[in-house]
Amino acid sequence: MKILITAGPTREYLDDVRYLSNASSGRMGYALAQAALDAGHEVVLVTGPVDLKPPVGCEVHNVVTTGQMRDAAIEAFPRCDGVIATAAVCDYKPKVRTQGKMSKSGEAITIELIETDDVLAELGRMRDKHWVVGFALEASNARENALQKLRAKNCDVVVLNSPQAIGAEGNDVQLIGPTGDVVAQWSGLKTEIATSLMHWIGEHLG
Ligand code: CTP
Repeated sequence: MKILITAGPTREYLDDVRYLSNASSGRMGYALAQAALDAGHEVVLVTGPVDLKPPVGCEVHNVVTTGQMRDAAIEAFPRCDGVIATAAVCDYKPKVRTQGKMSKSGEAITIELIETDDVLAELGRMRDKHWVVGFALEASNARENALQKLRAKNCDVVVLNSPQAIGAEGNDVQLIGPTGDVVAQWSGLKTEIATSLMHWIGEHLG
């Protein structure tokens, strides 16, 4: 199979030097890319800025903003069999990006934020014979929210994890199916979870 993987954070710039982002390390996505290669698949890795070296053998697209991640993913998806969306995408961006560097005014300021593109939701709308695996990072009402995301983004399954996963080496995940049931669960290093998830995808979706 040829598998599209989105990974890492995105950044949304307030001005030329400051941005909104999050602490995603990209580890889960990169571990999945390695696990997919090890299982004999081809990988297109669309990645935000992280401190990791991409596994040798991936087609890599380095992106920074959510818009760039969207464009790269939309371009690659038609030539892939499925997508695993691990990226911790910035949901909001400043309505206006200031040229240069914003100076202090001595007073409080308000920054208006607007929603970014939902990359996975767009891929879910585009899907044809593809399979689609989303991730959900939930702090509360985890399974209900994960199921809502599965439906809203037209996924086959959603990998549910908690905010402790961000930046960590290990993880504890449940795989939520289309009825909201837990169809599998794994805990351990992200590399171990990646191998198990790839194996599950090969058996159930591939
Ligand atoms: N996702 C995406 N594009 C976005 C937001 C999320 O592709 N703009 C993808 C993520 O990669 C993940 C899934 O959608 O596979 C769910 O991401 P998550 O951050 O848990 O949820 P959001 O849809 O952003 O909703 P909220 O932040 O309100 O929980």
